[in-house]
Amino acid sequence: MKAVAVNPTLREITVREHPEPSLASPTAVLARPLEVGVCGTDREIASFAYGVPPAGESWLVNGHECLAEVVQVGAAVENLRPGDLVVLTVRRPCPHPECRPCRAGRQDFCTTGDFTERGIKGAHGYMTERVVDDAGFFVPLPAALREIGVLTEPLTIAEKAIEQVRAIETRLPESARHSTENPKRAVVLGAGPVGLLGAMVLRLAGYTTFVYSRSARDDVHGPILSTIGATLVAAETQSVSDLADTVGNIDLVYEAVGASSLAFEVLKFLGVNAVFVFTGVPGRKEAVKLDTDRVMRHLVLKNQVAFGTVNAGRESFAAAVRDLGEFATRWPTAVRGLITSRSPLEAAPTLLTTKPGGIKSVVAIGG
Ligand code: BGC
Ligand code: ZN
Repeated sequence: MKAVAVNPTLREITVREHPEPSLASPTAVLARPLEVGVCGTDREIASFAYGVPPAGESWLVNGHECLAEVVQVGAAVENLRPGDLVVLTVRRPCPHPECRPCRAGRQDFCTTGDFTERGIKGAHGYMTERVVDDAGFFVPLPAALREIGVLTEPLTIAEKAIEQVRAIETRLPESARHSTENPKRAVVLGAGPVGLLGAMVLRLAGYTTFVYSRSARDDVHGPILSTIGATLVAAETQSVSDLADTVGNIDLVYEAVGASSLAFEVLKFLGVNAVFVFTGVPGRKEAVKLDTDRVMRHLVLKNQVAFGTVNAGRESFAAAVRDLGEFATRWPTAVRGLITSRSPLEAAPTLLTTKPGGIKSVVAIGG
């Protein structure tokens, strides 16, 4: 079968023959990828900055944001049948008995670093014609969400973040937490797929939501933001201090650009009892100056919390599937509008190595 794969040693990315997997255990599922999304991580791997082939192999099959259709299930699989739509989780647990998160099925909190991630680190990805994995790594998706199901994985980043924000908010008395009667103000940094999906989750949860972006276009992003009821603050013309004036007390920041200089500038303006969530992975650039006294004074005197979040567990995938359904009901055109291009498998190497346009690019695998 065909697969898009990268060879970090030869610095090559190409469509090549790859051995077809087969059902090897009674709990395994064989599926046919339908659509695989492309994100910054995939582009980094395609530029050979990251990406680790499976042990003993020299090629890594790309892709980790996968919508698939079940083809065949092992004898012990009860919750999935051929023809069902599914999305696949990304991270697989490390083998160490002492890693409690992995042993509890929460490899997104792996303590050893020896996890694998399909399409990223030590395990083949989904830009191919067939994939096999244990049933526990598949999440069912209603057939009605076929067109947007590929957005599930990037949405899980926001779901895991908001679950943690809610956990942090339990430090406040219930009447002082975010609610429809007491809506809090959120700032999303970035208007890429992770930012826009984050804004949708925040709007669904009732946050007054501002998106601060340098690249948002009136024609592409404008209609999406106005449909979901989020306010765009243009970074070309508005400084971070202007942003803070517009918002008032910034209760929550959802960072989705991976630019540390911007993130830490915004951190300076974080409000009272506020939470700052980092989701981006910045490349190493020149060090920036930071007023650490100001940041630390505010963290303490304003009861602030800043945390980072990576990957997601099954619960976040289930939440993402539920919320995609909500988005599809409330904002059908806007959520479909997040997917701005679909390309065949053959075009994936070019797609992965050229500058992205639009919002979310997807590889559609036919046949
Ligand atoms: C993926 C995550 C993964 C992370 C780090 C992201 O692009 O969505 O699943 O954990 O990269 O490899
Ligand atoms: Zn990704």
